[in-house]
Amino acid sequence: MTAELISGKEVAANLRDQIKKEVEEWKDVIVPGLAVILVGDNPASRSYVKGKEKASAEAGIYSELKELPDSISEADLLEMVEAYNDNPSIHGILVQLPLPDHISEKKVIESISPEKDVDGFHPINIGRMMTGQDAFLPCTPFGIIQMLKYKNIDVEGKHAVIVGRSNIVGKPAGQLLLNENATVTYCHSRTADLQQMTTQADILIAAIGRAEFIKAEHVKEGAVVIDVGMNRKENGKLCGDVDFEAVKEKASYITPVPGGVGPMTITMLLYNTLQSAKNHAEREQLKP
Ligand code: GUN
Repeated sequence: MTAELISGKEVAANLRDQIKKEVEEWKDVIVPGLAVILVGDNPASRSYVKGKEKASAEAGIYSELKELPDSISEADLLEMVEAYNDNPSIHGILVQLPLPDHISEKKVIESISPEKDVDGFHPINIGRMMTGQDAFLPCTPFGIIQMLKYKNIDVEGKHAVIVGRSNIVGKPAGQLLLNENATVTYCHSRTADLQQMTTQADILIAAIGRAEFIKAEHVKEGAVVIDVGMNRKENGKLCGDVDFEAVKEKASYITPVPGGVGPMTITMLLYNTLQSAKNHAEREQLKP
C-alpha cells in the first residue's frame, strides 16, 4: 500500500480562507487582536513568531509583537501579560515557549486570562478540555483533529497510539482523540516495548522530537500516521519523527514534513483568536 498524503498546507489554506471570510464579516463590530510575546532570541522561536504575525495579517487579524530581552525579569513579564489581560482590543495572548530559566513558565501561563489563552495552555482550559467543556484547545493537537476530519477519517472505536507525552502535544492529542471516542494509548521514553504498542495503532501520532525515529516496523499495515516532528537531519534537511519514505509504503494516510502538521498549528491559533473575539462580542452583546 502507498499512503495517501494528508496535506496540512491544503487543509490550512481551506480553514484560513474560512477564517478570513468570518473576520471580514465581523470587521465593523470587532477586529480580533493577538498579542505575541517573544523573550530572547532563540532562532526557532523567532521564526515561529514571524510566521504567526504573517498569517494573522493575511487573515485580517490585528497582531502585535513584543520582543523582550533575555534579561527581562519575571515580574516585568507578568506585568506585561496583565496589561494585555486588561486591553480590550487584544483577544489572544501568546507567550512563546520556551522561556529563560529564571522565569517560571507555570507562573506566566497561569497569569494569562483563560479567556485570552489562545494557546490553550492554562490549567483552566486544560481542565475544560478534559471534561469536554468549551475550551481553547491547544493548537497542534486541534490541528491534527482538523486534518483527520478533512479526510473523513473516523476515529470512533479506533486505537490511537500517541508516542510522546508533552503538555503541549502528546497529552492533549490523546485527550482530544479520546473526546472523539478513540481508544487511546500513551507511549514515551520509558515504554517497555514500544514496537509492540505502536504496531497495534490504527492511528499513530509521533510527537517525540527525534529525527525519523518511527520506522516501518513500528507501523501496522493500513495505519494512519501523523508526524508532529520538526527535526533537522545531519545534512540540514527538515524531517519529521517518522521515516517517511519507508512508512508511506505501509500506512493508509501519512502527513509529510514540512507541509503537514506545521501549517495547522498557526491556523488553529488564528481560529482560536477569532473565537475569542467572538466570545468577547457575545459578552458585550455585539453582533455582525
Ligand atoms: N513553543 C513551541 N510551540 C509553541 C506553541 O504552540 N505556543 C507557544 N506559546 N510556544 C510554543
